[in-house]
Amino acid sequence: MGTYIIFSFIAYLIGSIPSGLIIGKLVYQVDIREHGSGNLGGTNAFRVLGKKAGLVVTIADILKGTLAASLPFLLSQPELSGLVIGIFAVVGHMFPIFAKFKGGKAVATSAGMILGISPLLFFIVFATFFVILYISKYVSLSSMLSAIFAVITAVALQNTGLIIITSILCIFVVYRHKANIKRIINHTEPKVTWI
Ligand code: G3P
Repeated sequence: MGTYIIFSFIAYLIGSIPSGLIIGKLVYQVDIREHGSGNLGGTNAFRVLGKKAGLVVTIADILKGTLAASLPFLLSQPELSGLVIGIFAVVGHMFPIFAKFKGGKAVATSAGMILGISPLLFFIVFATFFVILYISKYVSLSSMLSAIFAVITAVALQNTGLIIITSILCIFVVYRHKANIKRIINHTEPKVTWI
């Protein structure tokens, strides 16, 4: 139990690294929380700082999840569950201790965590995300529908651990997109133009 608590705390700290804030402030002298949607994630970094920064922030946020979910193997404790520990990176990403607990919407770090646990599920959901994005042009809608599709895929794979974890992640993702849902309904949610 003690090891779980230590590993989960490390995962939380990893998830708390505010990639969007660091890159925005250090490289562009811009706080992305004061622009666009105000979100600290890759989508807002794309919107405010441009494609290169958006890509770097998205990849960094994905890697936080992958790293956290891989901690049991990296730190020679393979009996611990990367699924349980990885969740804490997602919590850190949403409520980062290093950025006044105002973080992202759980998407990229959840995806990275899934990549660390089940690359098959990751690639299925990743492909789904881009198909929905191509059709809808809404990143937020694509994120939420992909999160729901992750649960459906986990059920199809008959993997109980994945079903539980993807369900929790799905709740996080949809809950964090409350403002986006309102904007989609009001037709004020911005669409992407690059796909
Ligand atoms: O990953 C977050 C994305 O789904 C929405 O971001 O900045 O448009 O609220 P944003």
